[in-house]
Amino acid sequence: MRQIVVTGGGTGIGKAIAAAFAAQGDQVVITGRRKDVLDQAVAELGGDVRAAAFDAADPAQVEAALAELPERVDVLVNNAGGNRDRTSAPAPEAGLAGLAARWRANLDANLFTALLVTEALRDRLNPGARVINFSSIAAHRGGTGSYGAAKAAIENWNLTLAQEVGPEGITANVIAPGYISDTEFFGPNGIPAERLARNVAQSLNKRAGHPDDVVATTLFLASPAAGHLTGQVFHLDGGSIAGR
Ligand SMILES: NC(=O)c1ccc[n+]([C@@H]2O[C@H](COP(=O)([O-])OP(=O)(O)OC[C@H]3O[C@@H](n4cnc5c(N)ncnc54)[C@H](OP(=O)(O)O)[C@@H]3O)[C@@H](O)[C@H]2O)c1
Repeated sequence: MRQIVVTGGGTGIGKAIAAAFAAQGDQVVITGRRKDVLDQAVAELGGDVRAAAFDAADPAQVEAALAELPERVDVLVNNAGGNRDRTSAPAPEAGLAGLAARWRANLDANLFTALLVTEALRDRLNPGARVINFSSIAAHRGGTGSYGAAKAAIENWNLTLAQEVGPEGITANVIAPGYISDTEFFGPNGIPAERLARNVAQSLNKRAGHPDDVVATTLFLASPAAGHLTGQVFHLDGGSIAGR
């Protein structure tokens, strides 16, 4: 029975990934900041799923949470993240102080969540373990400022991680989704219709992505069959940025 950690596993993509591992009989810990959301997810998912509530961007909270995380880890899915420009109130400061606060918020939510949880669990990763990080199509396009920059940073950091853990047979890869439906990413009102239509039009298969698409790629990357794939970025966007 494998030990799986899915950050941001209480909602959206992470919840779907946690459900899939649990259905395979793996032991899963889901994490996030909101305990009530995690508890609700645990109740819904069934299987061997536990919750650990902490802010993965806060070094002290990550260290304190180690007691609730598995002693050995086979698969770490660093899925927690989101675009803070979209979901948080803008930083109150004007000028450069506000700019720095807004950029730090997205670096915290996306880069530091993955970096800190991975470093905290580094010594617990079993030989042959899998680390799966989350970027975005935004890392390969302009227009999203600090969010795209934070996701691009993950892709570069993943390469260093893959180099470091490679000799232990551990792989580190990145999934970079395009638009994925059924998540909290775009907030309570969901993606604006015009933007959805634009995203679908830009894809080669003329559809939106679904959490099941991400689940399938994650399960493959976590499988023994994917042991020679590491340091890669997998664009899960219906070919929207094909050729790059
Ligand atoms: N949906 C898309 O179209 C799309 C496209 C490209 C990439 N992505 C990426 O896919 C990943 C999953 O997002 P999603 O679409 O499933 O959206 P989501 O439903 O908003 O899920 C994000 C999860 O991350 C958790 N989280 C955020 N900040 C955290 C922190 N500091 N510490 C701990 N947990 C944190 C959230 O829980 P709490 O709020 O309770 O902490 C939430 O459960 C993200 O990395 C996102 O950037 C999504």
